[in-house]
Amino acid sequence: MTDILQERGFVIYRGYLDRSAQESLVDVVRDVLEQVPLVQPVTPRGKPMSVRMSAAGEFGWVSDRGGYRYAPTHPNGTEWPPIPAEVLAIWQDVSGATRRPECCLINWYGEGARMGLHQDRDEADLTQPVVSVSLGDSGLFRMGNVDRGGSTGSVWLDSGDVVVMGGAARLCHHGVDRIRFGSSTLLPRGGRINLTLRVVT
Ligand code: SIN
Ligand code: FE2
Repeated sequence: MTDILQERGFVIYRGYLDRSAQESLVDVVRDVLEQVPLVQPVTPRGKPMSVRMSAAGEFGWVSDRGGYRYAPTHPNGTEWPPIPAEVLAIWQDVSGATRRPECCLINWYGEGARMGLHQDRDEADLTQPVVSVSLGDSGLFRMGNVDRGGSTGSVWLDSGDVVVMGGAARLCHHGVDRIRFGSSTLLPRGGRINLTLRVVT
């Protein structure tokens, strides 16, 4: 199944972060979340999403009754903290990008959370890749096509895995079908954290 992902240009760095790097990253994410707490967004139609979100960087991605968009502040009015150096270092190492990320979206998946197939297309410069970092419980990542429909492939992303969606994969649909709640010991109360780094402007 991973063949489809490779064919479409998704690059997966398995076990990119070792356990101690994962633990430091969790600490860093916790510091961010103390400043800008996770919120449960609703879709523009008012349906609560199962994933809780926050962000670091110049912009965070938010969704509410007013639509979804990049916003310069948390819904509570606080400015997003800067993207931590540890996270920027991953981007520098794997992205091959010419620009720096302006958003580090923090997605938190609790038991039963999922994310439907979607494209990341709210960014202005689609020549820049998206980099995603997985921490905690494993998540079943599904990847489809640029157009809706057609064949899809899926792969379990484990704690410490990093995915680069650039080139042909940049506009491919992707999502998370489910997580294996409690499969990792990284987060004491379980759950999965996914960080996605993006250039926004
Ligand atoms: C996303 O597409 O925003 C998240 C992907 C993931 O959680 O692995
Ligand atoms: Fe996405």
